[in-house]
Amino acid sequence: MKRFATMLLLTPLALASVTALAADVDLEAGKAKSVVCQACHGADGNAEVDPQYPRLAGQYADYLAHALRQYKSGGRTNAIMQGFVTTLSDQDISNVAAYFSSLPDTKLTNLAGRVQGD
Ligand code: HEC
Repeated sequence: MKRFATMLLLTPLALASVTALAADVDLEAGKAKSVVCQACHGADGNAEVDPQYPRLAGQYADYLAHALRQYKSGGRTNAIMQGFVTTLSDQDISNVAAYFSSLPDTKLTNLAGRVQGD
């Protein structure tokens, strides 16, 4: 019961912090930063260019931002992406992640042919 009461107390705080994070994101600035990314990830983020480039459109913004921060810290290593994230500030990462996340995913309608062993 005590635990439940704590949860009730903390829930509005958690929701408030999510709202605060979302308010800090600038989609227009993210769009401006995304220009260089489009060569590989596609103008609409759906990476039609080449299957080696992952689709960014419609992926969760926090996943994209986490991936970018990992490339930056070296927690995830990829020679190509490492070069691109060095120019991005933490705010740029939040903005560009939110921008790609906001784009419609036109590519992944099902997993046929995309699961290993298919
Ligand atoms: C020269 C091509 C190229 C450019 C330009 C490029 N990327 Fe990438 N990106 C890649 C490749 C290749 C991968 C897959 C790397 C791996 O396997 O970790 C990747 C992976 C990613 C991922 C991880 C996706 C996932 O599903 O895990 C994100 C996020 C990302 N790129 C964002 C960006 C952003 C933002 C920019 C522009 C600032 C950018 N990329 C520019 C080639 C590129």
